[in-house]
Amino acid sequence: GYDAGPFLPRRGGLPALRSAAAACEGCPLFRNATQTVFGAGPSSARIVLVGEQPGDQEDRQGEPFVGPAGRLLRDALEEAGIDAKSAYFTNAVKHFKFEPAVRGKRRIHKAPSLREMSACRPWLAAELRKIEPDLVMALGATAGKAVLGGSFRVSEQRGLLLPLPAWDELGRADVSGATGIPEREAAAHGCVIGTIHPSAVLRSDDREAAYRGLVSDLRVAADVLA
Ligand code: URA
Repeated sequence: GYDAGPFLPRRGGLPALRSAAAACEGCPLFRNATQTVFGAGPSSARIVLVGEQPGDQEDRQGEPFVGPAGRLLRDALEEAGIDAKSAYFTNAVKHFKFEPAVRGKRRIHKAPSLREMSACRPWLAAELRKIEPDLVMALGATAGKAVLGGSFRVSEQRGLLLPLPAWDELGRADVSGATGIPEREAAAHGCVIGTIHPSAVLRSDDREAAYRGLVSDLRVAADVLA
C-alpha cells in the first residue's frame, strides 16, 4: 500500500526530514505535483499549524501557506496575537493534488484520499516528534482527522482544547466523546485545537463571520501559549 515510512531518514533533525521528503514517492501524488512542500518554521516553535495540502501557489513556490489562504491565516494569527514568525506551518499531505480545469490552464484542487492521508502521516508525526510543540492547530477536517483520528468533526469539536495523541497514535485516536481539557492542564501535556480551514473562510457565504470564527479559535490557542 501507499506509505511514506520507508522514505523517512533514520537520523537528523527537521532539515534532514525536509530533504528526504523532497524525494518521497510514498503515494502517487508526487507524479503530478511540482515538488514536495514540506513544513516550514523554527524547530523551537511552540505552535504547529497543520493544513490539508499545499495549494497552487505553494506547489509552485515550495513553501506552505504562501498563497491566498496563507495570507488570510497570517492576518488571523496576528489578530489573535500569535507571532507567525515563531510558528511552524505544515500540511497533512505534502504534495498538491489537482485536476486540470475543463477549459484553460487553471489547476483545480482535489481533496486527498484517506489512503494518501495515511501514507503521508509519517512525515507529520516526525515533524511533531522533532518539534514537540505545546499546541497543534488543526485547520479543517483533513488536518483534524490526520491528528485526531477519523472521529474528529470540525462542527462539533472546533475551538476545544483536546489532548495531543502520542505520535504513534496519530490519526488513530478516538475523540468522538472528547469535550476538551481544562486550560491550565493543556500547556503541560501538549494539546490540539481544531478549527476551520482558511480556504473555507475564503469560500464562505459569510466571509466576515467565518473569519471571526477562525480568529476566535486562534485566541483560544493564544491563551494556551500565554
Ligand atoms: N492550504 C493548505 O491547506 N495548505 C497550504 O499550505 C496552503 C493552502
